[in-house]
Amino acid sequence: MPPSLQKSIENFLPTAHAAEPSHVIQGRNVMAGYSRISALQVNAITSFIANDPLYIECKALMQERQLLTESRLINLFLILKYGLKNLEGNIIEFGSYRGGSAIFLAAAVRALGLSTTIYALDTFEGIPSSDPTLDFHDTRDFEHVSFQELLEYKEKWGLTNLVFVKGRFEETALPLLEQTQKIILAHIDCDLYESTKYAIDVTLPYLHPKGGYLVFDDALQSTCLGALQAVEEMVQQHQLRAEQSFPHLVYRYPKIG
Ligand SMILES: C[S@@+](CC[C@H](N)C(=O)[O-])C[C@H]1O[C@@H](n2cnc3c(N)ncnc32)[C@H](O)[C@@H]1O
Repeated sequence: MPPSLQKSIENFLPTAHAAEPSHVIQGRNVMAGYSRISALQVNAITSFIANDPLYIECKALMQERQLLTESRLINLFLILKYGLKNLEGNIIEFGSYRGGSAIFLAAAVRALGLSTTIYALDTFEGIPSSDPTLDFHDTRDFEHVSFQELLEYKEKWGLTNLVFVKGRFEETALPLLEQTQKIILAHIDCDLYESTKYAIDVTLPYLHPKGGYLVFDDALQSTCLGALQAVEEMVQQHQLRAEQSFPHLVYRYPKIG
């Protein structure tokens, strides 16, 4: 790739996110979405970010817990770095398992100097039972996790901006959302129809009024059609348009313009 093209995409990222919230229309800022997808689809930029010492440091903290693909990690990093500039508040994650994505988010937020707390919600003892006509998972999936080990790991690395919240979302999310600051990003990775639908419904009223991010990890996975159905229902009900379709499904809410 010519260096001039690489340079123009690097410049495109901050400028595409700069005009917010006025450019968030029907649940998306088209230019912000284009800028992140372009960055991810151009190898030179992907490796430019993958070699960024900040990014490497955050990824290293996840160690062997990592479930997310490189493109999804980079996309989260780009949203945190460029997309949260005009937003103040906290991040909520629905589905944390062994903490991989939550640790990455907390490390990246800290490295980028944002004063944001990450709330990471999970049973931390396996996925709840679900409707087999919609969902693929078995209740033994994701049961191999030690909550105590997670707490110790977070302590060891001084991730004071990360809070693990143990229990079913249906019991933990609402009391938390009622007492925290506005949510600037919800990372939704819980694989099931009912869980994803609940995560969406409970979070929407608490998203930042300038257009908080809804980032769906699993809705594009072959084994998570139930999660995709919950997203489709949200789109129909609220008439939202996607800001990104690769590598995550990303929406903004409220839809502003
Ligand atoms: C794919 S894993 C999350 C992976 C994690 N984001 C990562 O990247 O390492 C999905 C998780 O969602 C959790 N989950 C699904 N529905 C839930 C619910 N209703 N309440 C609490 N946890 C739930 C499961 O326990 C499981 O650990």
